[in-house]
Amino acid sequence: MYDYQQKYAEYLQTFESYLHTYAENLKTVPPILGEAMRYSLLSGGKRIRPVLMLATAEVLGVEQELVLPYATALEMIHTYSLIHDDLPAMDNDDFRRGKPSCHKAYGEAYAILAGDALLNQALSLVLEMALKGEKYTLAAKLLSDFAGMNGMILGQVADMQHTASGEAITEKTLHFIQENKTGKLLLAPLLIPSILADNRYYIRLEQFGKELGRLFQITDDILDVEGEFDQIGKSVGKDENSDKLTCVKLYGLQGAKLRADECLARCRALLEGIDCNTDFLENLVLSVRERKA
Ligand code: IPE
Ligand code: IPE
Ligand code: MG
Ligand code: MG
Ligand code: MG
Repeated sequence: MYDYQQKYAEYLQTFESYLHTYAENLKTVPPILGEAMRYSLLSGGKRIRPVLMLATAEVLGVEQELVLPYATALEMIHTYSLIHDDLPAMDNDDFRRGKPSCHKAYGEAYAILAGDALLNQALSLVLEMALKGEKYTLAAKLLSDFAGMNGMILGQVADMQHTASGEAITEKTLHFIQENKTGKLLLAPLLIPSILADNRYYIRLEQFGKELGRLFQITDDILDVEGEFDQIGKSVGKDENSDKLTCVKLYGLQGAKLRADECLARCRALLEGIDCNTDFLENLVLSVRERKA
């Protein structure tokens, strides 16, 4: 029988082994910078973005070796976004992935610099791939664009602007935040393999990824209320304390769960239009809906 957990573990193992080899290069003199980078990058996390990229590559028939550098760069950008997200100037979170957050372990200045350096290393890694030809360059550009001022960073700005702003909260604003701060880095692992497969199923994967991104942030908001520190590895109840604009704030806990179910249904319907084996992606969506971590 098809075993989703086992398949996830296989993708994870493939990614972790590539990442650990790559991370050997992330050593600096003086060592503090490289240490802070590796502290956050190698401290676990679900690695859902790289796993999603490997799985999508398999669905579309793209070789693992071709997407692993992009998956690594994406995880480095995601890690940098978490380091900066936890800073006192942003969400002021003391824990991440079950350990003191980067600025708690290394101080704010080194946490900022470690985040910056992870971003630059990530771009350097995909620029090396870009030398292989046009589609590899377009994939690298997509990653840079989705992380940047019209992507994740823009979403973080919208999140900050609407935190305790006292403004009326609307669904439109919530969707804008979800789509950018979380959605863009969950779309990239679907669209990069598609670009490398000459845009195979690009539009459908884009629609699917938007729903998945929204589902992921809704469940993150739910876990901020219902989650256990031991499982999510970060503080619980932070969003309400900081008066964040979350799905739970807008619709209540039950309303958020209803929206999550709707996203799940739309994700499933979109996968049906892909004429390949999408069992893993289907199970992944369900596991995002049901996740406890
Ligand atoms: C947390 O991302 C930040 C959000 C986008 C909600 P993850 O839940 O993927 O965090 P890790 O990588 O598993 O630690
Ligand atoms: C952060 O969203 C998304 C990022 C771009 C890092 P959150 O602020 O809700 O993520 P957590 O809950 O701290 O992981
Ligand atoms: Mg935040
Ligand atoms: Mg946060
Ligand atoms: Mg959160």
